[in-house]
Parts: sequence; structure tokens; C-alpha cells
Amino acid sequence: MKRKVLRVIDGETVFPPPAWMMRQAGRYLPEYRASRKEAGSFLDLCYSPDFAVEVTLQPIRRFGFDAAILFSDILVVPHVLGRDLRFEEGRGPLMTPITPDEIAALNIEGAEEKLAPVYETVNRLRNELPDETTLLGFCGAPWTVATYMIAGHGTADQAPARLFAYQHPELFEKLLNDLADISAAYLIKQLDSGADALQIFDSWSGVLDEDCFDRFCIKPVARIVAKVRSVYPDARIIGFPKGAGLLYQDYREKTGVNMLGMDWTVPFSFAKQLQAQGAVQGNLDPLRVVAGGKALDEGVDAILKHLGQGPLVFNLGHGITPQAPIEHVQQMLDRIRNQA
Ligand code: CP3
Repeated sequence: MKRKVLRVIDGETVFPPPAWMMRQAGRYLPEYRASRKEAGSFLDLCYSPDFAVEVTLQPIRRFGFDAAILFSDILVVPHVLGRDLRFEEGRGPLMTPITPDEIAALNIEGAEEKLAPVYETVNRLRNELPDETTLLGFCGAPWTVATYMIAGHGTADQAPARLFAYQHPELFEKLLNDLADISAAYLIKQLDSGADALQIFDSWSGVLDEDCFDRFCIKPVARIVAKVRSVYPDARIIGFPKGAGLLYQDYREKTGVNMLGMDWTVPFSFAKQLQAQGAVQGNLDPLRVVAGGKALDEGVDAILKHLGQGPLVFNLGHGITPQAPIEHVQQMLDRIRNQA
């Protein structure tokens, strides 16, 4: 038996399409909020296999999604590189901004070993998940991870990282290469532990000009893909360069990712062109799930109408938000599944 999401990644059309949601384990679920409270801090949740397995399984039990995504965060990578990382209620991630000297001194040697609890989580998940459920591992793309390391927190347009990149081009390149190498080692260990496929999240691709997109997004992700495939030649990799616009076009070709994750601003005419070259994933506006009703039904129908005849994994165009009502998630899935 080949899992549905894997069939789509390999280029097959499956209808109704398999579905999962970015951030499907999260605060919109009461059972997640309970586990989060019990674990103490968010990082305790990520680093404790008991809790991480439990919260990964919660949305699978409730909704039967076709894929489970390992519960962790993209920022555990800088964390094991020695950067301090805190998650404060309502403020998102906070880190001490990295200095040029600290980048020069950054040593990634063996740091992936410190993520052993994550590998245990992946291993236990593959044993506990239903056979038909695809298990996704993931990492953050170097550019997106670097934006948090440089600013120390999320910003609207990543001005601190963009400016840093122009002012310290060599050091910035070193940072991206280091992050690519440690991320590749991390992803390889996730595959060793039983992940079926991988997603690389580049949430902040959309703030770069063409030249920077090529150097900061495409090149480091291509480096990760090549390193992972040097060990696992058939590794299935999903790239999600959020907000890349027209630059989605060469992203797949130049990085080598198998499937493109699309945000909700990608027009269907363009999405169909992308789909003619390989599988796509997406791309419902997460706020349609908050709104429910007609806004949700119309959003689902449009995706199925325009992209349902080709290789598609149904997803949101970004993570589900904490205020999304659970019944609306069920409404979305019923609408997809009742197409049969
Ligand atoms: O269910 C899943 O998708 C798997 C788990 C997962 C989380 N973060 C859990 C999480 C994944 C894949 C991520 C990726 C991630 N983390 C990204 C890339 C995707 C995206 O959303 O753009 C980014 C940029 C981060 C960094 C990060 N982590 C931010 C900006 C925040 C704060 C925003 C928020 O929603 O609070 C986090 C915290 C975080 N990561 C939470 C969860 C469930 C919420 C923490 C909490 O419970 O308080």
C-alpha cells in the first residue's frame, strides 16, 4: 500500500485529494491547549517525546487527516546551536539577536545529535500512526530561520535580516550555509527515524527581490535537497516558499523539491502551470476556515475545481489560526471528501 500523500508527491492524481493542514496540532484544539498547559513550556512540549507524540496524534484522531506532521518548531535548530529561545504568551518566539562575531564563530559540528528527542518522537509516531497516514518531518528554510536569529523576533517585512545581508554579505552567506548543513543533517535523521516525506518551510520568502530570492531562498534549499538526496536519493521533499509569487516558477526546478506548497495568493491560472510541472499543495486562505459558511465552501470548491484534475494535496495556504472553530475544519473536510 502506498500512502495517498506519497502517491500525489510522485505525480499521481488522487480525487478527492488527500488533505492535511499546516499547524494542525495547535491552539485551535482544546486537547492541544490541555497538553500545552501540562507540559509547562512550549519547548518542553517539543523536546518531550511523550507530549510531542500525543499532540501530533490529536488532529489525526479527531479528523483523520491524510498526513501527520511531526510536532516541533523550526527554531529548535538555532536553539541547539546555542541560541537562547523563549516563547512568551502572545509574543511569539524571542531570541537574543546574533552578532556578526557570533556568526563567524558558529560551530554546527554534531549539533543535530542534540535533537535526539525529536528523532524518538518520529520513530514512535511511525509505529503509532494508522498505516495509511503519511508522516511528515520538517525543518525551517535557512532564510526564514535566519530572519528570527538576526532580528530576535518576528517582524513584518524582515528589515533587520535584509539589511544585515546587504551589510555583511560574506557572513550572511556563511550563516545560510551553516543552517543548510545542519538542517540537512537534521532531515536525514528524521528519515532514518521513519519520516515518509519532508517539508521545508520558507515562510518569509515573499519579502525578497529576485536576486536575494535566488541567493537566500533557492540556493540554500537546493543545498539541503542535494545533501539529503546524497544519502536518500529518492527522498520526497515539499518546498513551501510562502509569498514567492512569480518566483515559484523556478523554485522547484532549481531546488529539486518534488512538490510545491502554495500560499493563497497564487492565482489558479498560475497554479495550474505549476501543477503541469509536478504536484502542488495548498492553498486555502486560513481565514476562510475562521469564517466558515459560504466563504469556506466557495474556497474549497474553487481549489477542487481548478486543481482537482491534477496532482494535488489539499492544504491551507498557511497555518490554521488559533481562532478557527473546530466545526469549520470538519466542514472543510466533509466538503472535500463528499466529492467522491
Ligand atoms: O502542526 C504543525 O504544523 C507542526 C508543528 C509546527 C509548529 N511550528 C508548532 C508551533 C510547525 C511545522 C511550525 C513551523 C514554524 N514555526 C514556522 C513555519 C511555518 C509558519 O507558520 O510560517 C515558523 C515561522 C515558526 C516559528 C514560530 N513558532 C512562530 C512565529 C510562533 C509563534 C506564532 C504562534 O502561532 O504562536 C511559533 C510557536 C508555535 N509553533 C506554536 C505552535 C503550535 C504556538 C505555541 C504555543 O502553543 O503557544
